[in-house]
Amino acid sequence: MTTRETLAQQLTRARERTLRLVDFDDAELHRQYSPLMSPLVWDLAHIGQQEELWLLRGGNPDRPGMLAPDVDRLYDAFVHSRASRVDLPLLPPTDARAYCATVRSRALDALDSLDADDSGFNFGLVISHENQHDETMLQALNLRAGPPLFDAGSALPAGRAGVAGTSVLIPGGPFVLGVDELTEPHSLDNERPPHTVELPPFAIGRVPVTNAEWREFIDDGGYHQQRWWSEPGWAHRQEAGLTAPEFWGHDGTRTRFGHIETIPADEPVQHVTFFEAEAYAAWAGARLPTEIEWEKACAWDPVAGSRRRFPWGTSEPTEALANLGGDARRPAPVGAYPAGASAYGVEQMLGDVWEWTTSPLRPWPGFTPMVYDRYTEPFFDGDYRILRGGSWAVSADILRPSFRNWDHPIRRQIFSGVRLAWDV
Ligand SMILES: [Fe+2]
Repeated sequence: MTTRETLAQQLTRARERTLRLVDFDDAELHRQYSPLMSPLVWDLAHIGQQEELWLLRGGNPDRPGMLAPDVDRLYDAFVHSRASRVDLPLLPPTDARAYCATVRSRALDALDSLDADDSGFNFGLVISHENQHDETMLQALNLRAGPPLFDAGSALPAGRAGVAGTSVLIPGGPFVLGVDELTEPHSLDNERPPHTVELPPFAIGRVPVTNAEWREFIDDGGYHQQRWWSEPGWAHRQEAGLTAPEFWGHDGTRTRFGHIETIPADEPVQHVTFFEAEAYAAWAGARLPTEIEWEKACAWDPVAGSRRRFPWGTSEPTEALANLGGDARRPAPVGAYPAGASAYGVEQMLGDVWEWTTSPLRPWPGFTPMVYDRYTEPFFDGDYRILRGGSWAVSADILRPSFRNWDHPIRRQIFSGVRLAWDV
């Protein structure tokens, strides 16, 4: 397939996914499920507005577009907070759909005239952006009160006994952190440039921490013993009254997209803050990994002395290798993807749950902002922690071992989980 064909297919796949997530009546699309999230109709038009900006307006917001300037500005994420978007005079859903369709048809015309040797970085950016908003919309829908809008999700492979709680040794030595445009043409600014980093040896969890393991932390009083918590973590735990992951009930059940179900023991724990992850790790006699350790365990091949494109090698992700794409609507049990293990034997690094790391968001040396120059740079030195590896809700079209996500350490409506690490 040519680059143009691949990009066209990925654009279409993202749009089909988006439209499935807004296939509800107008009242539903205007609802705000939580002040943490936008109404779905905002995400929908914002997807089109950013696509128009990057592909049809040369990334210049002063260049006239299809929307009136005051309407266009409604969809600037830096102007309007998520909590305030429900009160804006947003485009009605019919107009938002029509706008997105018009933008897309012109974007596909632009793709047709892309040079055959052009990697289409801006198209990759648009595909990534739309899929990232699809995940955001899933976070919103998961916060929705009321009877489910979706079924419980597609089938997943079974897990393996005996892998929970085990670890893998990552020997010390240099590896290459980050990627360049030659190997990963659609990598974002914060993943570049590649550079050699020397790490001491460490151990890392073979699989993410499970619900059953988290239950032991709760039963042992972990949420009530200050000694496991950092100072800001304990302050937040007190203020927010945290006693279990979000969406957990008191009777061994959880609510997921409106479905009330027994908490599966062998599934990676989801919906925990960085502070809870940190406290759990301390209680377990471990720590969280840095994002650099995480990337080495995921992508480095110590025998070849080079990076792998994916943990398992070069082949594209499949349902046998990782839980991605969003249809499962939950993580897979630990041990479900032995074929997806990294060179070191670490499993489920891509998909399932975003994994908190101790790292704040910082530029790699030589960082250069991309066309969307507000994607990363405004967030450096903020109150953020890096999450790695993507969740079940991330599209396989946009995920790489070098992909960096970040959020406030108190957030847990995201599909966040935990992988432990140890000094050796
Ligand atoms: Fe956005």
